[in-house]
Amino acid sequence: MSLAIYRKYRPKTFEDLLGQSHIVNVLKNAARQDKLAHAYLFYGPRGTGKTTAARLIAKIANCATRHNNKKFKETGEPCNACSRCSEIDTGKALDVVEIDAASNTGVDNIRDLQEGIKLSPTSYPYKVFIIDEVHMLSKSAFNALLKTLEEPPAHAIFVLATTEFEKVLPTIVSRTQKFHFRKLDINEIAQKLKKIVSAEKMSVSSEAIELIASIAEGSLRDAESLLDQVTTLDEKVDEKTVEQVLGQVSFSRTAKLAEIILKSDLKGSLEYIAEINEGGYNVVDLTKELIRYFRRALGLKFDERLETIFKKELTAEELNQLKKHSQLINPDKHIKLLQTLIRGYSEMRYSPFASIPLEIAIIESLRNATEPRLD
Ligand SMILES: Nc1ncnc2c1ncn2[C@@H]1O[C@H](COP(=O)(O)OP(=O)(O)OP(=O)(O)O)[C@@H](O)[C@H]1O
Ligand SMILES: [Mg+2]
Ligand SMILES: [Zn+2]
Repeated sequence: MSLAIYRKYRPKTFEDLLGQSHIVNVLKNAARQDKLAHAYLFYGPRGTGKTTAARLIAKIANCATRHNNKKFKETGEPCNACSRCSEIDTGKALDVVEIDAASNTGVDNIRDLQEGIKLSPTSYPYKVFIIDEVHMLSKSAFNALLKTLEEPPAHAIFVLATTEFEKVLPTIVSRTQKFHFRKLDINEIAQKLKKIVSAEKMSVSSEAIELIASIAEGSLRDAESLLDQVTTLDEKVDEKTVEQVLGQVSFSRTAKLAEIILKSDLKGSLEYIAEINEGGYNVVDLTKELIRYFRRALGLKFDERLETIFKKELTAEELNQLKKHSQLINPDKHIKLLQTLIRGYSEMRYSPFASIPLEIAIIESLRNATEPRLD
């Protein structure tokens, strides 16, 4: 099997670590000034670069060019040419120990670790311990780790990573330099996917790339795995392929349905749902997306500043359409619709008649608009 995209395209320099410039700058400076800390805590959502940055620290701590090399002093980047850099890249470095706390929660393992820490590195200046999902450690393992962090030996660097910051004991947190990894925005994700697509000579349309970037919800790893999945077919990938392979409904389809509803066109709405259903798309997903769409449109109606947040999740064209639709929002009517849709969504996931709750929600909301009033 070929190497998964997300492994093949793991950034080898800080420069390539996207969207985390606040972290990258601090770490590059620390490298240049020879001021690496003994313990770091990287936290933030999945697939945003935590493990990648931890390995970069292992490289800058140990890269053969680290001392007396002009380029290193200028850039704070690993050389990626020395044997240590390449051993760390390929996971063959004995002095870089990666521990997945999710599968080693027992105290024994941390005791092993404590023993291991006392030993000097075998061939590198620094032993780097990367402890992934550190929040999963048992309480006693936490305490053992704490003891180690209280007096770390001079040759050890710890990088703790977690997606759940709140679950890490405060006593551990306070002994580390903390860095918050943020979700990547849709443009940053699309930009990297485009580079991969052209490097791999894949045939993927830009609409398809944008859809993948939006489904990934801020995680570059998810985006790269999705790209892997849709390109295994070896055909030209367009928006429709992505929708069908991933069972997702695109923004444009959701926006179209929203527009028909906002124009109070009951007949048109039902026809459109039937069309989507027959096209083999996932109606449960359509409902979820429709809820998100109305939620955003409603939000924008009341607070234009939300635009800065939505900009990270939507393309410029999508945002324009959303803004146009938010003008058509009638708060009383559409809050009620949103409530019915949410109720419908939880029912339809367990129902063999998935489209019915969606249809009922729309009929309830629109029938008064189309029926002649009797009073
Ligand atoms: N900020 C980023 N810039 C460029 N590529 C990234 C970034 N974040 C993630 N990636 C891509 O996703 C892959 C996985 O990233 P990484 O293992 O660093 O994520 P993580 O934050 O450790 O996620 P998890 O919390 O799930 O362990 C990388 O190999 C890379 O291809
Ligand atoms: Mg990780
Ligand atoms: Zn090097």
